[in-house]
Amino acid sequence: MCGIVGYVGPREAQDIVLEGLRRLEYRGYDSAGLAVADGGAVERRRSVGKLENLAAVLREQPMRGCLGIGHTRWATHGGGTEANAHPHTDASGRIVIIQNGIVENYLELKADLLAKGVEFVSQTDTEVIAHLVAQHYYNGAGDLATAVRQALGQLEGASAVVAMSLDEPDTLVAARLGNAGGVVLGVGEGEMFVASDMPAILEHTRRVIFLDNRELAVVHADGARVMDLAGEPVDKDVTTVSWNPVTVAKDGYRHFMLKEIHEQSRSLTDVIRGRVDFDRANVLLPDLEGLRPVLPHLRRLHAVGCGTAWHACLLAKFLIEDLARLPVEVDYGSEFRYRDPLLEPGSVVLVITQSGETVDTLAAMEEARDRGMQSIALVNVMGSQAARLADGVVYLNAGPEIGVASTKAFTSQVAAAYLLALYLGQARGTLPQERRRDLLRDIAALPNLVGRVLSNGNNYEAIAQKYVEADDFLYLGRGINYPIALEGALKLKEISYIHAEGYPAGEMKHGPIALIDEHLPVVAICPRDKVRDKMLSNIEQVRARGGRVIALATEGDEEVARTADDVIWIPEASRYLTPVLAVVPLQLLAYHIAVLRGADVDQPRNLAKSVTVE
Ligand code: AGP
Repeated sequence: MCGIVGYVGPREAQDIVLEGLRRLEYRGYDSAGLAVADGGAVERRRSVGKLENLAAVLREQPMRGCLGIGHTRWATHGGGTEANAHPHTDASGRIVIIQNGIVENYLELKADLLAKGVEFVSQTDTEVIAHLVAQHYYNGAGDLATAVRQALGQLEGASAVVAMSLDEPDTLVAARLGNAGGVVLGVGEGEMFVASDMPAILEHTRRVIFLDNRELAVVHADGARVMDLAGEPVDKDVTTVSWNPVTVAKDGYRHFMLKEIHEQSRSLTDVIRGRVDFDRANVLLPDLEGLRPVLPHLRRLHAVGCGTAWHACLLAKFLIEDLARLPVEVDYGSEFRYRDPLLEPGSVVLVITQSGETVDTLAAMEEARDRGMQSIALVNVMGSQAARLADGVVYLNAGPEIGVASTKAFTSQVAAAYLLALYLGQARGTLPQERRRDLLRDIAALPNLVGRVLSNGNNYEAIAQKYVEADDFLYLGRGINYPIALEGALKLKEISYIHAEGYPAGEMKHGPIALIDEHLPVVAICPRDKVRDKMLSNIEQVRARGGRVIALATEGDEEVARTADDVIWIPEASRYLTPVLAVVPLQLLAYHIAVLRGADVDQPRNLAKSVTVE
């Protein structure tokens, strides 16, 4: 998704904004641009492709000024061209706009503007905003903030907008309309920052203000004034966030994804830390206390997520139904609101989301709220929209996840779902204390077991080398490991661009077995559990048809090793937590195959870290 950065203060804006955009590169983009005002003129530089192209232009033609805005664009309306790159201006060039999101009624607005003689130079919906703001600005709005507010009143759809004007060289105006990604203000010493995400701000300040839906900020070097779109003042807290820029560095790893895979012992520790009372065998989730009274009477959870988070929802179903004896329905975020879900009294929506900004997941929360239902969010990013919309939150505490392909956030989502299942079981009286004690002991051992998987000598590179030329992969799993087959397939396809499918192993004979031949590697998740023999039989069925099998097996299970072509060992663990141990090797397998194929592992083509448009 697009990245937004703005600066106003005593320092030169250009390099501050450019570095901020670099911190947002992980969001995915296809063009970039930057504008700076110094009171005498507004200058703008834009380029197609990676930020390095824009940096080269800026080296050739630097801009001076202490007020600046910059943007990385992920094309929605109009291709990734320089003319479509933000910032966009009005005809005079004095009003400058950057935007995230989609103006759903831009065609009719554009037609009105064209009828008034406005000339357009791009195919974007964003340019419409620039002209609307100018119309209001030069027709009596009085100041930029009022002009932006009035223009936003004409927009349909979700937008995050930052504006500046040559006539107000000490002012940025930032506004949020719907869920087009966040707008966060960084509060510095005598300087202010605006961004769509905190990594763009953290090297300067950890004091931030989050704009909520339908809020607008007037930002000067000495601070910000926030109002609603009716112009009424709004009091906002300044939050100090714990993430520091150091943790957002690569720490010597070749890619953020590899770093984040190897962080999982620590990130899993952090999702558990402070949430377990081992003496009384209780789970402590203080941010759910507001929901405590309704938990014993709950009749159903609707688990909603997208992509990898949807796989975490599938696992949450297994965990919560088994441990809390509470029915769970699972929906894709992109489907939930369109299927007119049957939301009965006694239901709560559980959303799982790393970014807390995924538009389809947020829309599910709003659907629930509009129908009078409460929601719980398992979310990583503090202050994200999901975190602020939810009635109860369980933070993943995984730290920034920069790689577009989710790894540590996923395993923390599963661990958080496990803790939630115990918490619900405790509240509903379905888990006696001794059972809880055993289950808590199991999860307390998980970080160490993941550490063993990361260092047990499995030779992922050799296996990757052997199968790197394949055009297709099939991933098979059963029961609670079926979602891991889906997740393993998603990891491979999204970073290596190899087609991969995850399937319940028992379904193979109902179609996919027709695919089996020596060209199709099959990854079979076959831990020592109650369906191990069934999985072993599936492996034999694949081998009998000339297929090649990479088996995930419990350490010491030599029979599986003998039956497969290659084996990846994982430690013995509780069946509820084996999925976490099984997914880590699949993350590494996908990573090494993608590296061998020369793919852009951290920023795969066409993908964005947070999908804030439909
Ligand atoms: C994960 O590898 C993908 N990049 C993607 O499917 C992601 O899980 C999905 O977009 C949901 O994102 P969220 O967790 O931030 O809501």
